[in-house]
Amino acid sequence: MSTLAIHNGRVIDPALGRDGIADVVIVDGRIARVGPNEGDMVVEAERIDATGLIVTPGFVDLHTHLREPGQEHKETIATGTRAAARGGYTTVCAMPNTTPPLDSKAAVESVLREAELSAIVRVLPIGTITRGRAGKELSPAGELAASGVVALSDDGDAVADPSLMRHALEYSTRFGLPIAQHCEDPSLVAGGHMHEGWVATRLGLRGRPASAEETFVARDIALAELAGAHLHICHVSTAGSVALIAAARARGARVTAEVTPHHLTLTHEEVAFGADYQSAKYITNAKVNPPLREEADLAALAIALRDGVIDCIATDHAPHSTSDKEIEFDLASPGLTMLETSFGLCMKLVHDGTLSLPTLIERLTIGPVRAWGLDTRAGLEGIGTLAPGALGDVTLLDPNADWTVDPSTFASKGHNTPLGGRQLRGRVVATIFGGRLVHETDRVVAL
Ligand code: DOR
Repeated sequence: MSTLAIHNGRVIDPALGRDGIADVVIVDGRIARVGPNEGDMVVEAERIDATGLIVTPGFVDLHTHLREPGQEHKETIATGTRAAARGGYTTVCAMPNTTPPLDSKAAVESVLREAELSAIVRVLPIGTITRGRAGKELSPAGELAASGVVALSDDGDAVADPSLMRHALEYSTRFGLPIAQHCEDPSLVAGGHMHEGWVATRLGLRGRPASAEETFVARDIALAELAGAHLHICHVSTAGSVALIAAARARGARVTAEVTPHHLTLTHEEVAFGADYQSAKYITNAKVNPPLREEADLAALAIALRDGVIDCIATDHAPHSTSDKEIEFDLASPGLTMLETSFGLCMKLVHDGTLSLPTLIERLTIGPVRAWGLDTRAGLEGIGTLAPGALGDVTLLDPNADWTVDPSTFASKGHNTPLGGRQLRGRVVATIFGGRLVHETDRVVAL
Protein backbone atom coordinates (compact mmCIF):
# COMPACT_ATOMS: atom_id res chain seq x y z
CA MET A 1 0.00 0.00 0.00
CA SER A 2 1.38 3.45 -0.88
CA THR A 3 0.17 6.53 0.96
CA LEU A 4 0.85 10.18 0.21
CA ALA A 5 -0.33 12.80 2.72
CA ILE A 6 -0.44 16.47 1.71
CA HIS A 7 -0.58 18.50 4.89
CA ASN A 8 -2.14 21.79 5.76
CA GLY A 9 -2.77 23.38 2.36
CA ARG A 10 -5.75 25.51 1.34
CA VAL A 11 -7.78 22.88 -0.48
CA ILE A 12 -9.93 24.30 -3.27
CA ASP A 13 -12.20 21.68 -4.83
CA PRO A 14 -14.89 23.56 -6.80
CA ALA A 15 -16.76 20.34 -7.67
CA LEU A 16 -17.59 19.95 -3.98
CA GLY A 17 -17.67 23.65 -3.09
CA ARG A 18 -14.78 23.00 -0.72
CA ASP A 19 -12.38 25.81 0.19
CA GLY A 20 -10.45 25.57 3.44
CA ILE A 21 -7.32 24.37 5.17
CA ALA A 22 -7.16 20.57 5.10
CA ASP A 23 -4.97 17.55 4.52
CA VAL A 24 -5.38 15.35 1.43
CA VAL A 25 -4.56 11.68 1.79
CA ILE A 26 -4.01 9.55 -1.31
CA VAL A 27 -3.88 5.78 -0.88
CA ASP A 28 -2.88 3.51 -3.76
CA GLY A 29 -3.45 6.23 -6.31
CA ARG A 30 -6.93 7.32 -5.17
CA ILE A 31 -8.11 10.09 -2.88
CA ALA A 32 -8.82 8.44 0.47
CA ARG A 33 -9.62 11.32 2.83
CA VAL A 34 -9.71 15.10 2.82
CA GLY A 35 -10.11 17.13 5.99
CA PRO A 36 -8.35 18.96 8.79
CA ASN A 37 -5.59 16.82 10.36
CA GLU A 38 -6.55 13.74 8.29
CA GLY A 39 -2.89 13.29 7.39
CA ASP A 40 -2.01 12.83 11.04
CA MET A 41 -4.33 9.81 11.20
CA VAL A 42 -2.29 7.77 8.74
CA VAL A 43 0.93 6.01 9.58
CA GLU A 44 3.68 5.13 7.13
CA ALA A 45 3.01 7.83 4.59
CA GLU A 46 5.14 9.93 2.31
CA ARG A 47 4.34 13.47 3.47
CA ILE A 48 4.39 16.90 1.85
CA ASP A 49 4.02 20.16 3.76
CA ALA A 50 1.60 22.33 1.78
CA THR A 51 1.42 25.14 4.35
CA GLY A 52 0.88 28.40 2.45
CA LEU A 53 0.04 26.56 -0.79
CA ILE A 54 -3.18 25.93 -2.70
CA VAL A 55 -4.14 22.28 -3.24
CA THR A 56 -6.49 21.55 -6.15
CA PRO A 57 -7.57 18.67 -8.37
CA GLY A 58 -5.14 18.14 -11.27
CA PHE A 59 -5.87 20.48 -14.19
CA VAL A 60 -7.63 19.13 -17.28
CA ASP A 61 -6.84 20.49 -20.75
CA LEU A 62 -9.38 19.84 -23.51
CA HIS A 63 -7.06 21.18 -26.22
CA THR A 64 -3.41 20.09 -26.47
CA HIS A 65 -1.31 19.47 -29.57
CA LEU A 66 1.12 16.66 -28.77
CA ARG A 67 2.28 16.32 -32.42
CA GLU A 68 2.79 12.57 -32.22
CA PRO A 69 2.60 10.69 -34.54
CA GLY A 70 4.49 12.39 -37.32
CA GLN A 71 5.83 15.70 -36.04
CA GLU A 72 8.11 14.54 -33.27
CA HIS A 73 10.54 17.35 -34.03
CA LYS A 74 7.91 19.75 -32.59
CA GLU A 75 6.76 17.67 -29.61
CA THR A 76 6.31 14.08 -28.50
CA ILE A 77 3.89 12.45 -26.12
CA ALA A 78 6.81 12.16 -23.69
CA THR A 79 7.82 15.84 -23.84
CA GLY A 80 4.28 17.20 -24.14
CA THR A 81 3.08 15.34 -21.06
CA ARG A 82 6.14 16.53 -19.13
CA ALA A 83 5.22 20.08 -20.11
CA ALA A 84 1.67 19.33 -18.97
CA ALA A 85 2.90 18.12 -15.56
CA ARG A 86 4.94 21.31 -15.15
CA GLY A 87 1.83 23.30 -15.93
CA GLY A 88 -0.24 21.48 -13.29
CA TYR A 89 -2.13 19.37 -15.84
CA THR A 90 -2.82 15.71 -15.12
CA THR A 91 -5.09 15.13 -18.11
CA VAL A 92 -4.62 16.40 -21.66
CA CYS A 93 -6.89 15.80 -24.63
CA ALA A 94 -4.71 15.31 -27.70
CA MET A 95 -5.78 17.09 -30.87
CA PRO A 96 -5.83 14.92 -33.99
CA ASN A 97 -3.99 17.18 -36.49
CA THR A 98 -1.07 14.78 -36.44
CA THR A 99 0.61 13.02 -39.38
CA PRO A 100 -1.33 10.89 -40.10
CA PRO A 101 -4.39 12.53 -38.55
CA LEU A 102 -6.30 10.55 -35.92
CA ASP A 103 -9.07 9.45 -38.27
CA SER A 104 -8.88 5.69 -37.76
CA LYS A 105 -8.75 3.09 -35.01
CA ALA A 106 -5.13 2.33 -35.90
CA ALA A 107 -4.02 5.95 -35.53
CA VAL A 108 -5.85 6.40 -32.23
CA GLU A 109 -4.40 3.14 -30.92
CA SER A 110 -0.90 4.32 -31.83
CA VAL A 111 -1.38 7.34 -29.58
CA LEU A 112 -2.80 5.28 -26.73
CA ARG A 113 0.04 2.76 -27.05
CA GLU A 114 2.70 5.45 -27.05
CA ALA A 115 1.01 7.18 -24.12
CA GLU A 116 1.20 3.94 -22.13
CA LEU A 117 4.92 3.81 -22.79
CA SER A 118 6.02 7.40 -22.43
CA ALA A 119 3.31 9.70 -21.02
CA ILE A 120 3.59 10.89 -17.43
CA VAL A 121 0.02 12.20 -17.25
CA ARG A 122 -3.24 10.98 -18.80
CA VAL A 123 -3.68 11.39 -22.56
CA LEU A 124 -7.22 11.29 -23.99
CA PRO A 125 -7.22 11.30 -27.79
CA ILE A 126 -9.59 13.33 -29.96
CA GLY A 127 -10.55 11.94 -33.38
CA THR A 128 -11.03 13.92 -36.56
CA ILE A 129 -14.46 14.99 -37.80
CA THR A 130 -13.53 14.35 -41.43
CA ARG A 131 -11.21 11.84 -43.07
CA GLY A 132 -7.72 13.21 -43.30
CA ARG A 133 -9.09 16.51 -41.93
CA ALA A 134 -9.83 17.25 -45.56
CA GLY A 135 -13.39 18.46 -44.96
CA LYS A 136 -14.83 16.23 -47.68
CA GLU A 137 -16.29 13.13 -46.00
CA LEU A 138 -17.00 12.09 -42.43
CA SER A 139 -14.53 10.04 -40.42
CA PRO A 140 -15.77 6.68 -39.09
CA ALA A 141 -17.12 8.13 -35.84
CA GLY A 142 -18.30 4.77 -34.49
CA GLU A 143 -14.87 3.22 -34.94
CA LEU A 144 -13.25 6.27 -33.36
CA ALA A 145 -15.68 6.25 -30.43
CA ALA A 146 -14.98 2.55 -29.84
CA SER A 147 -11.24 3.30 -29.89
CA GLY A 148 -11.69 5.70 -26.98
CA VAL A 149 -11.71 9.20 -28.42
CA VAL A 150 -13.41 11.78 -26.20
CA ALA A 151 -14.46 14.25 -28.93
CA LEU A 152 -14.22 14.88 -32.65
CA SER A 153 -12.42 17.90 -34.11
CA ASP A 154 -10.66 19.05 -37.28
CA ASP A 155 -8.94 21.74 -35.20
CA GLY A 156 -6.54 23.88 -37.15
CA ASP A 157 -9.24 24.03 -39.79
CA ALA A 158 -12.99 24.47 -39.61
CA VAL A 159 -15.37 22.04 -41.24
CA ALA A 160 -16.42 24.56 -43.86
CA ASP A 161 -19.15 22.70 -45.76
CA PRO A 162 -22.39 23.40 -43.85
CA SER A 163 -24.08 20.24 -45.01
CA LEU A 164 -21.15 18.07 -43.94
CA MET A 165 -21.07 19.89 -40.60
CA ARG A 166 -24.78 19.22 -40.16
CA HIS A 167 -24.24 15.51 -40.79
CA ALA A 168 -21.22 15.41 -38.48
CA LEU A 169 -23.34 16.90 -35.70
CA GLU A 170 -26.23 14.50 -36.37
CA TYR A 171 -23.92 11.47 -36.51
CA SER A 172 -22.11 12.49 -33.30
CA THR A 173 -25.29 12.16 -31.26
CA ARG A 174 -25.24 8.37 -31.81
CA PHE A 175 -21.92 8.13 -30.02
CA GLY A 176 -22.35 10.86 -27.41
CA LEU A 177 -19.28 12.74 -28.63
CA PRO A 178 -18.96 16.53 -28.72
CA ILE A 179 -18.03 18.11 -32.04
CA ALA A 180 -15.26 20.60 -31.25
CA GLN A 181 -15.15 23.13 -34.03
CA HIS A 182 -12.35 25.56 -34.90
CA CYS A 183 -14.63 28.41 -35.93
CA GLU A 184 -12.99 30.45 -38.68
CA ASP A 185 -14.45 30.67 -42.17
CA PRO A 186 -11.57 29.70 -44.48
CA SER A 187 -12.71 32.02 -47.24
CA LEU A 188 -12.81 35.03 -44.91
CA VAL A 189 -9.39 34.36 -43.38
CA ALA A 190 -7.64 33.38 -46.63
CA GLY A 191 -4.26 35.08 -46.80
CA GLY A 192 -4.68 36.59 -43.33
CA HIS A 193 -2.03 36.13 -40.65
CA MET A 194 -3.22 38.16 -37.67
CA HIS A 195 -6.28 39.98 -36.35
CA GLU A 196 -7.80 42.41 -38.87
CA GLY A 197 -7.29 45.75 -37.14
CA TRP A 198 -4.94 48.71 -36.89
CA VAL A 199 -1.85 46.66 -36.03
CA ALA A 200 -2.23 44.55 -39.17
CA THR A 201 -2.59 47.73 -41.21
CA ARG A 202 0.49 49.22 -39.59
CA LEU A 203 2.50 46.06 -40.32
CA GLY A 204 1.15 45.75 -43.84
CA LEU A 205 -0.29 42.30 -43.15
CA ARG A 206 -3.63 40.98 -44.31
CA GLY A 207 -5.97 40.34 -41.38
CA ARG A 208 -8.38 37.67 -40.19
CA PRO A 209 -11.58 39.50 -39.22
CA ALA A 210 -13.55 38.77 -36.06
CA SER A 211 -16.56 38.09 -38.28
CA ALA A 212 -14.77 35.07 -39.79
CA GLU A 213 -15.15 33.45 -36.38
CA GLU A 214 -18.56 34.84 -35.53
CA THR A 215 -20.30 33.77 -38.74
CA PHE A 216 -19.18 30.18 -38.11
CA VAL A 217 -20.13 30.30 -34.43
CA ALA A 218 -23.63 31.47 -35.44
CA ARG A 219 -23.91 28.92 -38.24
CA ASP A 220 -22.71 26.01 -36.14
CA ILE A 221 -24.97 26.87 -33.22
CA ALA A 222 -27.93 26.82 -35.62
CA LEU A 223 -26.80 23.46 -37.03
CA ALA A 224 -26.26 22.00 -33.55
CA GLU A 225 -29.76 23.06 -32.54
CA LEU A 226 -31.15 21.48 -35.71
CA ALA A 227 -29.31 18.23 -35.01
CA GLY A 228 -29.88 18.24 -31.23
CA ALA A 229 -26.12 17.75 -30.95
CA HIS A 230 -23.37 18.87 -28.61
CA LEU A 231 -21.25 21.59 -30.20
CA HIS A 232 -18.06 22.65 -28.46
CA ILE A 233 -16.50 25.89 -29.64
CA CYS A 234 -12.71 25.85 -29.51
CA HIS A 235 -10.65 28.88 -28.48
CA VAL A 236 -13.36 31.56 -28.50
CA SER A 237 -11.64 34.87 -29.26
CA THR A 238 -14.19 37.62 -29.90
CA ALA A 239 -16.85 39.56 -27.97
CA GLY A 240 -19.30 38.80 -30.79
CA SER A 241 -18.80 35.04 -30.35
CA VAL A 242 -19.41 35.41 -26.62
CA ALA A 243 -22.78 37.10 -27.28
CA LEU A 244 -23.81 34.32 -29.67
CA ILE A 245 -22.84 31.58 -27.21
CA ALA A 246 -24.63 33.32 -24.33
CA ALA A 247 -27.84 33.59 -26.36
CA ALA A 248 -27.63 29.95 -27.48
CA ARG A 249 -27.11 28.72 -23.95
CA ALA A 250 -29.98 30.86 -22.70
CA ARG A 251 -32.19 29.01 -25.24
CA GLY A 252 -30.95 25.70 -23.87
CA ALA A 253 -28.75 24.73 -26.84
CA ARG A 254 -26.06 22.14 -26.10
CA VAL A 255 -23.17 24.49 -26.71
CA THR A 256 -20.01 24.49 -24.63
CA ALA A 257 -16.94 26.66 -25.10
CA GLU A 258 -13.32 27.14 -24.12
CA VAL A 259 -10.98 30.13 -24.05
CA THR A 260 -7.19 30.08 -24.05
CA PRO A 261 -4.91 31.86 -21.56
CA HIS A 262 -3.46 33.93 -24.41
CA HIS A 263 -6.79 35.07 -25.85
CA LEU A 264 -7.73 36.18 -22.32
CA THR A 265 -4.60 38.20 -21.67
CA LEU A 266 -2.77 39.24 -24.87
CA THR A 267 -3.91 41.63 -27.62
CA HIS A 268 -2.98 41.93 -31.29
CA GLU A 269 -0.47 44.61 -30.28
CA GLU A 270 1.66 41.71 -29.05
CA VAL A 271 2.42 40.83 -32.68
CA ALA A 272 4.08 44.20 -33.37
CA PHE A 273 5.39 45.33 -30.03
CA GLY A 274 5.71 42.49 -27.52
CA ALA A 275 6.82 43.98 -24.23
CA ASP A 276 8.51 46.97 -25.89
CA TYR A 277 6.56 49.78 -27.56
CA GLN A 278 9.58 51.50 -29.08
CA SER A 279 9.55 49.96 -32.53
CA ALA A 280 7.19 47.79 -34.53
CA LYS A 281 8.34 44.22 -35.14
CA TYR A 282 6.92 41.05 -36.63
CA ILE A 283 6.76 38.69 -33.67
CA THR A 284 5.94 35.26 -35.08
CA ASN A 285 5.65 33.76 -31.59
CA ALA A 286 2.47 35.84 -31.21
CA LYS A 287 1.02 34.46 -34.45
CA VAL A 288 -1.86 32.11 -33.67
CA ASN A 289 -5.21 31.06 -35.13
CA PRO A 290 -7.64 32.45 -34.23
CA PRO A 291 -5.50 35.54 -33.74
CA LEU A 292 -4.97 37.64 -30.63
CA ARG A 293 -7.70 40.30 -30.62
CA GLU A 294 -8.50 43.66 -28.98
CA GLU A 295 -8.99 44.89 -25.41
CA ALA A 296 -12.80 44.85 -25.70
CA ASP A 297 -12.65 41.18 -26.75
CA LEU A 298 -10.39 40.28 -23.83
CA ALA A 299 -12.79 41.99 -21.42
CA ALA A 300 -15.81 40.14 -22.85
CA LEU A 301 -13.98 36.80 -22.72
CA ALA A 302 -12.99 37.31 -19.08
CA ILE A 303 -16.55 38.18 -18.05
CA ALA A 304 -17.92 35.20 -19.98
CA LEU A 305 -15.43 32.93 -18.25
CA ARG A 306 -16.33 34.39 -14.87
CA ASP A 307 -20.07 33.98 -15.49
CA GLY A 308 -19.80 30.46 -16.93
CA VAL A 309 -20.88 31.37 -20.47
CA ILE A 310 -17.46 29.95 -21.36
CA ASP A 311 -17.05 26.65 -19.51
CA CYS A 312 -13.33 26.34 -19.22
CA ILE A 313 -9.79 27.37 -20.02
CA ALA A 314 -8.00 25.21 -22.61
CA THR A 315 -4.37 25.84 -23.55
CA ASP A 316 -4.30 25.16 -27.32
CA HIS A 317 -0.66 24.28 -26.57
CA ALA A 318 0.75 24.36 -30.11
CA PRO A 319 4.49 23.68 -30.08
CA HIS A 320 6.49 24.50 -33.21
CA SER A 321 10.16 24.23 -34.02
CA THR A 322 12.46 27.24 -34.35
CA SER A 323 12.59 26.80 -38.11
CA ASP A 324 8.77 27.02 -38.23
CA LYS A 325 8.87 30.36 -36.45
CA GLU A 326 12.10 32.16 -37.28
CA ILE A 327 11.03 32.94 -40.82
CA GLU A 328 8.91 35.53 -42.63
CA PHE A 329 5.68 36.30 -40.78
CA ASP A 330 3.47 35.05 -43.63
CA LEU A 331 5.25 31.71 -43.70
CA ALA A 332 5.52 31.12 -39.95
CA SER A 333 3.35 28.39 -38.42
CA PRO A 334 0.54 29.66 -36.19
CA GLY A 335 0.37 28.63 -32.55
CA LEU A 336 2.15 29.05 -29.27
CA THR A 337 3.40 26.76 -26.57
CA MET A 338 1.25 27.27 -23.50
CA LEU A 339 1.08 24.37 -21.03
CA GLU A 340 3.91 25.67 -18.85
CA THR A 341 2.74 29.29 -18.68
CA SER A 342 -1.02 28.72 -18.53
CA PHE A 343 -1.54 29.04 -14.77
CA GLY A 344 0.76 32.03 -14.33
CA LEU A 345 -0.87 33.84 -17.24
CA CYS A 346 -4.42 33.10 -16.06
CA MET A 347 -3.55 34.31 -12.57
CA LYS A 348 -3.41 37.83 -14.02
CA LEU A 349 -7.21 37.75 -13.96
CA VAL A 350 -7.20 36.82 -10.28
CA HIS A 351 -4.62 39.43 -9.33
CA ASP A 352 -6.52 42.16 -11.18
CA GLY A 353 -9.77 41.20 -9.43
CA THR A 354 -11.67 39.87 -12.48
CA LEU A 355 -11.88 36.26 -11.29
CA SER A 356 -11.85 34.71 -7.85
CA LEU A 357 -9.23 32.02 -7.32
CA PRO A 358 -11.89 29.29 -6.80
CA THR A 359 -13.54 30.31 -10.09
CA LEU A 360 -10.23 30.08 -11.94
CA ILE A 361 -9.61 26.64 -10.41
CA GLU A 362 -13.14 25.56 -11.43
CA ARG A 363 -12.44 26.52 -15.03
CA LEU A 364 -9.21 24.49 -15.01
CA THR A 365 -10.60 21.35 -13.33
CA ILE A 366 -14.25 20.35 -13.09
CA GLY A 367 -15.29 22.97 -15.69
CA PRO A 368 -13.65 21.15 -18.62
CA VAL A 369 -14.64 17.76 -17.17
CA ARG A 370 -18.33 18.68 -17.13
CA ALA A 371 -18.16 20.42 -20.51
CA TRP A 372 -17.38 17.08 -22.18
CA GLY A 373 -18.86 14.75 -19.55
CA LEU A 374 -15.44 13.16 -19.06
CA ASP A 375 -16.44 11.91 -15.60
CA THR A 376 -19.16 9.75 -17.14
CA ARG A 377 -16.57 7.70 -19.06
CA ALA A 378 -15.42 4.33 -17.73
CA GLY A 379 -12.24 4.72 -15.72
CA LEU A 380 -12.58 8.48 -15.39
CA GLU A 381 -15.10 8.60 -12.56
CA GLY A 382 -13.88 11.20 -10.08
CA ILE A 383 -11.73 13.15 -12.54
CA GLY A 384 -11.52 16.84 -11.69
CA THR A 385 -12.37 16.53 -8.00
CA LEU A 386 -10.78 15.48 -4.72
CA ALA A 387 -13.83 13.56 -3.49
CA PRO A 388 -13.01 10.33 -1.64
CA GLY A 389 -12.50 7.58 -4.21
CA ALA A 390 -11.56 10.07 -6.95
CA LEU A 391 -8.43 9.77 -9.08
CA GLY A 392 -5.34 10.77 -7.11
CA ASP A 393 -4.54 13.71 -9.38
CA VAL A 394 -3.56 16.80 -7.41
CA THR A 395 -1.89 20.13 -8.18
CA LEU A 396 -0.07 22.33 -5.66
CA LEU A 397 0.08 26.04 -6.40
CA ASP A 398 1.69 29.16 -5.06
CA PRO A 399 -0.59 31.97 -6.30
CA ASN A 400 1.82 34.74 -5.28
CA ALA A 401 5.16 33.40 -6.48
CA ASP A 402 6.82 35.66 -9.06
CA TRP A 403 8.84 33.98 -11.77
CA THR A 404 10.35 34.87 -15.09
CA VAL A 405 9.41 32.86 -18.17
CA ASP A 406 12.52 31.26 -19.63
CA PRO A 407 11.58 29.11 -22.64
CA SER A 408 15.00 27.42 -22.60
CA THR A 409 13.91 25.66 -19.39
CA PHE A 410 10.64 24.32 -20.84
CA ALA A 411 10.01 20.59 -20.88
CA SER A 412 8.14 21.17 -24.14
CA LYS A 413 10.18 21.01 -27.33
CA GLY A 414 8.30 24.13 -28.38
CA HIS A 415 9.93 27.34 -27.21
CA ASN A 416 7.52 29.40 -29.29
CA THR A 417 6.09 31.77 -26.72
CA PRO A 418 5.90 35.57 -26.82
CA LEU A 419 6.25 35.53 -23.01
CA GLY A 420 9.98 34.86 -22.76
CA GLY A 421 11.58 37.21 -20.23
CA ARG A 422 8.24 38.31 -18.75
CA GLN A 423 7.35 38.04 -15.10
CA LEU A 424 4.29 36.07 -14.10
CA ARG A 425 2.78 35.87 -10.63
CA GLY A 426 1.44 32.42 -9.77
CA ARG A 427 3.33 29.19 -10.06
CA VAL A 428 2.74 25.46 -10.15
CA VAL A 429 4.73 24.00 -7.25
CA ALA A 430 4.02 20.30 -7.73
CA THR A 431 1.85 17.95 -9.75
CA ILE A 432 0.71 14.55 -8.54
CA PHE A 433 -0.68 11.98 -10.96
CA GLY A 434 -2.32 8.84 -9.57
CA GLY A 435 -0.70 9.49 -6.19
CA ARG A 436 2.83 9.93 -7.63
CA LEU A 437 4.78 13.17 -7.91
CA VAL A 438 5.34 13.84 -11.61
CA HIS A 439 6.56 17.41 -11.16
CA GLU A 440 8.07 19.14 -8.17
CA THR A 441 9.93 22.36 -7.56
CA ASP A 442 12.23 23.30 -4.71
CA ARG A 443 9.19 24.72 -2.92
CA VAL A 444 8.06 21.16 -2.10
CA VAL A 445 9.01 20.32 1.46
CA ALA A 446 8.83 16.74 2.65
CA LEU A 447 7.79 16.17 6.27
O1 DOR B 1 -2.57 28.59 -34.08
C1 DOR B 1 -2.97 27.43 -34.14
N1 DOR B 1 -2.12 26.39 -34.16
N2 DOR B 1 -4.28 27.20 -34.20
C2 DOR B 1 -4.78 25.97 -34.41
O2 DOR B 1 -5.97 25.82 -34.40
C3 DOR B 1 -3.87 24.84 -34.65
C4 DOR B 1 -2.59 25.05 -34.01
C5 DOR B 1 -1.52 24.08 -34.42
O3 DOR B 1 -1.80 22.89 -34.52
O4 DOR B 1 -0.36 24.50 -34.56
